[in-house]
Amino acid sequence: MIFQVNHMRKVRAELISRVTTTLLSLAEDGKVDSAILPHLHVLLEWIQYRSNFRKTAMVRKSLKNGQPSPSVEIAIDLRQVDEDSLPRILEAAAAEAASHALVPSRVVLEPFGPMRSSMIWEFNKLYWQHRIEWEKATGKGYENALPSGSSDGHNPDAIGDQVAKFYDLVADMDDRGQLPERLYVMEFGVGSGERAHRWLELFLQSDRSRGTTYYARIRFLLCDYSMEALEGALELLGPHREVAEPREVDAMDPFRALSDLRYKVLYVHLTNVYDNLPTDDAVLRDGRIYLIEVRSYLDQADVDDLCRDYALDAETFPDAVRSLLERGPHALDDPEAGVRFWMALWGKLQLEERMVTVDSLSDASLPSGLKSSHLEELVTSGPGTVRFQLSSGAVGSFAGTIPLLHPRGYLEVMDIFVTELTQYRGGFKGPGKMDGSVVNWVNGALLAEVGRQAGYDVHFKPFTYRPGSRTSILYTTHRES
Ligand SMILES: C[S@@+](CC[C@H](N)C(=O)[O-])C[C@H]1O[C@@H](n2cnc3c(N)ncnc32)[C@H](O)[C@@H]1O
Repeated sequence: MIFQVNHMRKVRAELISRVTTTLLSLAEDGKVDSAILPHLHVLLEWIQYRSNFRKTAMVRKSLKNGQPSPSVEIAIDLRQVDEDSLPRILEAAAAEAASHALVPSRVVLEPFGPMRSSMIWEFNKLYWQHRIEWEKATGKGYENALPSGSSDGHNPDAIGDQVAKFYDLVADMDDRGQLPERLYVMEFGVGSGERAHRWLELFLQSDRSRGTTYYARIRFLLCDYSMEALEGALELLGPHREVAEPREVDAMDPFRALSDLRYKVLYVHLTNVYDNLPTDDAVLRDGRIYLIEVRSYLDQADVDDLCRDYALDAETFPDAVRSLLERGPHALDDPEAGVRFWMALWGKLQLEERMVTVDSLSDASLPSGLKSSHLEELVTSGPGTVRFQLSSGAVGSFAGTIPLLHPRGYLEVMDIFVTELTQYRGGFKGPGKMDGSVVNWVNGALLAEVGRQAGYDVHFKPFTYRPGSRTSILYTTHRES
C-alpha cells in the first residue's frame, strides 16, 4: 500500500495519521483484501471546493486494454473526514476496491466516458441558460459564490488598465497608418455584461478626453452560448448597444462560428470562462500515464428522497433527469418546483472515476485540439506522480481564437491558471461545484505549449488589483519573427 499526501496547506498531521492508522488497522484485521494491498494507492488530499462531486473516500479502479487491471486507488478528502464514521467509510471503500461488482446502492446516470463528455457539462449549460431562475430561488447572484463576492473581471482598476493598453495599441496603429476601419473587440462568456459595459464606458471616456474618434469604429462582439446571458448583457449596455453585437458562440470552438473574422480581431478578453469549460484529467504515476473516465451517479437513498419530494417514479428517474437537462425547470409542471428539483439533484450528484492506462501518448484518444507533442514535454519534464488537467475546452477555445487575431491583436484571459505542473502537487484543482456551474483550474502550462507550437507567445502576469486574488492573466500575441 502506497500513501500519497497531496496538499501543502497547514499540515494536518493528526488527521493524516488517523486515516493511515485506521486503514493499516483494517488491513491487519483482515478487513482489506490482501490481494489488493500490493496494488493499492491511497491518496490523501484537501479538496478546495467544499461543494464537489466526491465523497469522503472515492475508489478509482483501473483498466488496461479495456480489461480491469489490479491497480486501484482510494482517494480521501481530508476536509470531509468525520472521525467517528472514518473506520466504516474506509472499510466500505476497501471492500469496493476489492470487488468487481457494481455498487448496488447507486443509480448510475450515464456510462463511463472522458470527463469532457459527462453530463455535468449539460448541467453547467443548464445553469447559464436558466441562471435567473436559479438566482431567484437562492436570492443570490452568481458572483456571491466567488471567493471575493465579485468577479475579478469587473474590477474597475483592471478594466481601466485594459482600456489604456488597447487605446495605446489603436493610437500606435493609427500613427503608423495601419488602423483598420472597424476595430473588432471581443469578449467571450459575458455573464451579466458588467465588464463589457465598464470597458465601453471607460474607452469612450478616453476617446473623448483625447479628442479622438475611435469609439465609433469599435465593434464589440459579445459572445456566449447562453441567450439569456446575451440578452441581459445587451440590455445592460444601454447606449453602448450601438457598437455592440451579440453572437451565440460556443467558446470551445469559436472559429467555427466566427471564421468571417479571421485575422481581424484586435482584442479578445475572457474572465472565468476557461475554468468553466469541459476538461479531462490525466494521471502520471510510476512512469505510466492514465486518462480519467467518469460517470455521474446518485445514491439510491438520494433518488428515493427526490422521487418522494417531487412525485417522480423511481423506475424512470434517469428520464426525469434527461428531461430536466433538455427542458430546464419547465420539465416539471410547476417550474418553481422544477428549480428546486434541479438544485437538490445537483447538490447530490456525484462522479465515479476510473483510470484508463495509456500505452503511449501517440496512441491515446486525446481531445480535439490536443496533440501528443503538446504533452510530451510536460510529461517528461513534470513530476513523476501527479494528476493534472488537460483543459480540453480551454485548449479548443485557445486554438480556435488565435486565428481570429489581427497580426497586432492580442488575447487576454483572466482565470485560475496552473502555470507549472508541479503546482498540481499542492492540492486538488477541480472539478468543483460553484452554484449550479462547474469550476476547474486551467492548465496554463499546457496552453503555453499549444501556443508556442502554433507560433504564439504566451505569458502570464499576476492579477494585482485585489490582494489575495488567485487570478492570473494570460496574454497571447503572434510571435515576432
Ligand atoms: C463563470 S461565468 C463568467 C462571467 C463573466 N465573465 C464574469 O467574470 O463574471 C462563465 C460565462 O461563460 C459562459 N460560457 C460557459 N461555457 C461556455 C461555452 N462553452 N461557450 C460560450 N459561453 C460559455 C457562461 O454562459 C457565462 O456567461
